[in-house]
Amino acid sequence: MYDQNLFPLLDGPTSIQAKELERAMRSSTARRDVSPMKAKSIAVVSGKGGVGKSNVALNLALLLGERFKTPTVLLDADINMANLDVLLGLNVRLNLGHVLREELTLKEIILPISERVWLLPGGNGISGLKEVDWGSKSGLLKDLYVLDEKADAIVIDTGAGVNRDVLFFAMASDVIVIVTTPEPTALKDAYGLLKSFLLSYGRDKLSKKDLFFVVNMAQSSLEANAAAERLIKVSDRFLALSPRYLGYLPFDPKVAKAVKERSPVVKSYPKSSMARAMELIVSNLITKCGLEASGDSKELAAFGAFQRLLRKLRGE
Ligand SMILES: Nc1ncnc2c1ncn2[C@@H]1O[C@H](COP(=O)(O)OP(=O)(O)OP(=O)(O)O)[C@@H](O)[C@H]1O
Ligand SMILES: [Mg+2]
Repeated sequence: MYDQNLFPLLDGPTSIQAKELERAMRSSTARRDVSPMKAKSIAVVSGKGGVGKSNVALNLALLLGERFKTPTVLLDADINMANLDVLLGLNVRLNLGHVLREELTLKEIILPISERVWLLPGGNGISGLKEVDWGSKSGLLKDLYVLDEKADAIVIDTGAGVNRDVLFFAMASDVIVIVTTPEPTALKDAYGLLKSFLLSYGRDKLSKKDLFFVVNMAQSSLEANAAAERLIKVSDRFLALSPRYLGYLPFDPKVAKAVKERSPVVKSYPKSSMARAMELIVSNLITKCGLEASGDSKELAAFGAFQRLLRKLRGE
């Protein structure tokens, strides 16, 4: 069991330090924003529930951190049904609920889950917080600046369906990864989610996102590709949107096994078909949206994911 206080990600800046950091980051924003490299916040979303978002988000973050050496924060933004801590076998007492109630700061709840990956645990059944006004949580937002120092990517696991939090995090992120299964119901809901993004935020804003989708729990590549084609076709025809297909994940009993063992499948079963397919998906994501960089541009790429998320959360 982790004692959260033993593993602070941050050095506990005083509020003055935090302000200075915030100022310094703000002044460098313009330069970094014109960089061709984009630092990334990645929202993992779905229309239908139970299609594998949390497993995808968790394994994506771990692969980014460990396999692709990108320091990553995994944010459990499924406010009322958070379960990444359960998938990790952690006994988490302190979570985003405490931060949203302004009892604790992000740095007090963050946990290392591997060498380069940290978890911001979500709350469970946080009463009274169903409609979180994220933009007004100044303590939370201030801390997000500080996380930019440590992490190059932020992976956000969201709740199922079309609700305010999901729309909010998706539109605050640089990259949206929609998870669906090949089932017609899941595909229909994925399409419905895309339509909600379009209706809520407009074509201009949506076109600035890297919009991807993954077909999970496929019985075969044939089935996955047919499902992908269907989603691409209806999105194009009825919404004039072109989400890009990142690839598919096979139905693999090792996933359920790993969940029962409360350990991520890429860690427990790195040779399983799911783990290998996840690697392909992550490497595709990196190639398609320039997550990974080297040398000077690495620094530019690394910077700003949290800053951008923060500005968008504030509606700027
Ligand atoms: N590729 C896969 N092969 C087999 N089982 C899978 C696969 N992906 C996910 N599952 C199973 O599907 C179930 C749901 O997964 P998960 O909790 O990740 O979905 P979710 O979309 O986050 O759900 P929710 O909408 O409730 O948040 C889990 O029990 C998991 O074991
Ligand atoms: Mg989930």
